[in-house]
Amino acid sequence: MAETFFITTAIDYTNGAPHIGHAYEKVLADVLARYHRLKGEPVFFLTGVDQHGQKVQQSAEKQGVAPQEFVDGLTAKFLALWDKLDVRYERWAATTAPVHKDCVRRILQRLMDEGQLYKAKRAGYYSVRQEQFLTDKERGEDGQFGPEWGEVVFLEEENYLFRLAEHRDWLLNLLDRRPELVTPDFRRAELRNAVEKLSGDLTISRPKSRLAWGIEFPFDPEFVTYVWFDALVNYISFAPGYDPAPGADLSEFHRWWPATHLIGKDILIPAHGVYWPIMLKALGFRDEEIPPLVVHGWWNIAGAKMSKSLGNIVDPDQLATRYGAEALRYYLMSDIATGRDADFSEERLVQRFNADLANSLGNLLNRSLNMALKYRNGVLRQPVQPELLALTAQAVDFPGIIAQYQSKFGEFNVHAALETALSIAVLCNQFIDTHKPWSVAKQPELADRLDAILYHLADSLRILAILLSPVLPKAARGMYEQLGLTDPFRMEDARWGLLPDGHTVQTPVPLFPRIEKADPQTDAAH
Ligand code: MSP
Repeated sequence: MAETFFITTAIDYTNGAPHIGHAYEKVLADVLARYHRLKGEPVFFLTGVDQHGQKVQQSAEKQGVAPQEFVDGLTAKFLALWDKLDVRYERWAATTAPVHKDCVRRILQRLMDEGQLYKAKRAGYYSVRQEQFLTDKERGEDGQFGPEWGEVVFLEEENYLFRLAEHRDWLLNLLDRRPELVTPDFRRAELRNAVEKLSGDLTISRPKSRLAWGIEFPFDPEFVTYVWFDALVNYISFAPGYDPAPGADLSEFHRWWPATHLIGKDILIPAHGVYWPIMLKALGFRDEEIPPLVVHGWWNIAGAKMSKSLGNIVDPDQLATRYGAEALRYYLMSDIATGRDADFSEERLVQRFNADLANSLGNLLNRSLNMALKYRNGVLRQPVQPELLALTAQAVDFPGIIAQYQSKFGEFNVHAALETALSIAVLCNQFIDTHKPWSVAKQPELADRLDAILYHLADSLRILAILLSPVLPKAARGMYEQLGLTDPFRMEDARWGLLPDGHTVQTPVPLFPRIEKADPQTDAAH
C-alpha cells in the first residue's frame, strides 16, 4: 500500500480573531500536504479550532452571549480565512462536535476503568489565564508568580488526576531512542530537560461550579474536562478510523497514523511534548506510534511578541485582500526558516514579491513565451542533436535541483525548497542573457539552436510550475495554462524533456504584477 501522509496543526483557540501566526501554521501545513499530494501519496490534513475552556467562557460572558454562539462566530472567521488563503484540508476538527466529545468521554472512561485516573483533593495556586495549578517551579526569582500567569488565586478543591509522573522514565528513554520525534534538535534538548524535572500528576478535571464550558465527565457530572486534555484528543478523535475501545479494529487508523504534528514553540512543553505522548501511552499506543512533532518558531513584530495589549497584531485577512493570497503565502513560506523566529514586515512582503516573483519569475515567463510566439508562432521543437542537448543540460542541473528540493521538503525547510526551485528561474534568466535568442534569431543557419533555447525555457518553466505548486497553487496553474498544459501537477513529471515535439504555448498574461507601493505596516495592525 502507498505510503500515506497524515499532518495536523495546532487547533486555534476561538477566543480572538485569527492572526498572522495562525495563518503561518495553516499555510505551512497546507504546503507540506500539497507537496505530499504532488508525490502521489494519499494525504490526510487535519486542522480546526479549540472551542472550550475558561478563557472562552469569560469572553462569552463579557459579550453577554452563550459560549456556543461566541465560538460559532469566531469559528466562521477561521473557516473563511482558510478558504481565502487556499488552505485545503481533509477534515475540520471543532472540539464542540459530538464525535469529539464522545471520544473524549470514552477515553476518560477507559482511563478510569484501567486505573490511570484518580480523585484527590488539592490545595494550591491556580492561574486563571493558563487554566492550570501552579507549583513552586513556576515562581520567579522574587518568589512571586510572574505576570505571564495573569490572575493567580488560591484554590482548594477535589479533582481527577491523570497519572503522568510514573511515565517519566519511559518518555526520557523514548526521546533518547527516537531523536526524530522532535524537530528541530534544540527543541528536543529543551523537552528532555523538562521531562527530567517532571514530578506531579496532571489535574484533568475542573469543577463545574467554576467552569461549565467543557466536556462533562462520563462518570461524574460535577466535573468538566481540562481544556488541554480535551484539545489534544482532536488528533485521534477526528483521525480516520480511531476507536478508543480496548481491542477495537484500528486497521484504517493504522493506515494513517502516526500523524506529523505541526505546532508552535509555545505549546511543546508541557502539552505536546509531555502530556500527549503519555496520554497515548496510557491508551495503549506502542512506542513507534508516538507521533513526531515539528516545532515552528514565531513571527514577531520588530523583535517583540505580537499582542492585543501592544496593539500590533497583524491581520492576515487584510493582507490577503491587499496583496492577494498567493503573495501572502509566498512571504510566509520564504521569509522564515522553519523552527526559527522571524520578524514580520509588510515592506519585506512587497520586496520579496517584487524581486522573486514579479522580476525573476514573471519576467522569465513573459519573455520566454513572447519569444516562442514571435519567432515560432508558439510551436516548440524538441532538440535531438547532442550538442544542443548538451547546451541545455549544462544550463540547469535538474536532477541535482530536484534532489535538493525534495531533501529540503523532507526536513520541513520550505523556505530552502522554494529557494532551490526559484534558482531555476535565476539560471534560465542567465541562460537567456548568455545565449541572446534575439541575435540567434537573426541567423537562419542557427534555427535549430534557437528552437533548442525556446524549448529549454518552456520546459524549465513547466518544471518550475510543478515545484512551485505547493506554495503558489494558483500561479502554478496559471503558468501551466500559459504553457498550454492542463495535466494535474505530479512530482514525477519534474524532469527535463517531457514537452512533446510540436507542442504549442499560449499568449503570456502577467501573473505577478509588481506591487508598486508598500502601505505602511501599521495599516494592517488593527
Ligand atoms: N488551542 C491551543 C492549541 C491546542 S492543540 C491541541 C493553542 N491555540 S493558539 O490559538 O494559541 O495557537 C495556535 C497555534 O498558533 C500554535 O501552534 C501557536 O504556536 C501558533 N502561534 C500563535 N502565535 C504565533 C506567532 N506569532 N507566530 C507563529 N505561530 C504562532 O495554542
